[in-house]
Amino acid sequence: MHVLVIGSTRGTGRLLVDRLLADGHDVRALVRRQEQADALAEAGATPVLGDLEGDLGAAFEGALDAVAFCAGSGSSTGPDATLRVDLHGAVRAIDHCLDAGVGRYVQLSSIAADDPLRGAEGIRHYLAAMHARDRILTDSGLAATIVRPGGLTDDDPTGHIEIGVPRLEAHGSVPRGDVAAVIAGCLGDDGTIGASFEFVSGTTPIGEALAALR
Ligand SMILES: NC(=O)c1ccc[n+]([C@@H]2O[C@H](COP(=O)([O-])OP(=O)(O)OC[C@H]3O[C@@H](n4cnc5c(N)ncnc54)[C@H](OP(=O)(O)O)[C@@H]3O)[C@@H](O)[C@H]2O)c1
Repeated sequence: MHVLVIGSTRGTGRLLVDRLLADGHDVRALVRRQEQADALAEAGATPVLGDLEGDLGAAFEGALDAVAFCAGSGSSTGPDATLRVDLHGAVRAIDHCLDAGVGRYVQLSSIAADDPLRGAEGIRHYLAAMHARDRILTDSGLAATIVRPGGLTDDDPTGHIEIGVPRLEAHGSVPRGDVAAVIAGCLGDDGTIGASFEFVSGTTPIGEALAALR
């Protein structure tokens, strides 16, 4: 599968790049700077320069089966960056998929994005941006999966999660490596198309938890 990872340079997206490469996929990595391109090429991905706040076109040229959106403006920026990157940047990526005929899309969202008032007051603007973009994605017609992890950690992945039905408490956490495994698992499982689900660390093997979504 030809997969574009947006948000490929750090955190969950970077772990996803490695995982998809290990699984034999052709991985295109959106990066903003040349030194990042060099590092991603060294890892085995095909880097493409672009910016969610600027030109994105080159990222969607050529053979492309799926997009995994793992980018974000980060917790140290203000609400303006949240709007520009996490909301408008994500919506632009969805529009590029529609224009380029890329059908499959996995969105890294957040626990409590279904109802921003569930979240702590200081992050409600961020949850509201995610809520809006998740709804736009759902209504887009793309074959989408929306994954909503709890707080991300750099702990060693366990390969086990708990999916919340209907929803989890907003204070759980999960290692980024497990979130990358969940996204890769969704890309490889069309039974997850149309699903949007919250999850944290747990006791169910990831493959089994995803299979239960069908
Ligand atoms: N933190 C949490 O507890 C939590 C919980 C639930 C969900 N989430 C979601 O998970 C996402 C990933 O978090 P993370 O900590 O794993 O990753 P991260 O370290 O925050 O990495 C963010 C990625 O987004 C990229 N990015 C930022 N602005 C961009 C732009 N304008 N154009 C293109 N790429 C851009 C960054 O690239 P550069 O290296 O170029 O900056 C980087 O690759 C968050 O953004 C959030 O949406 C987070």
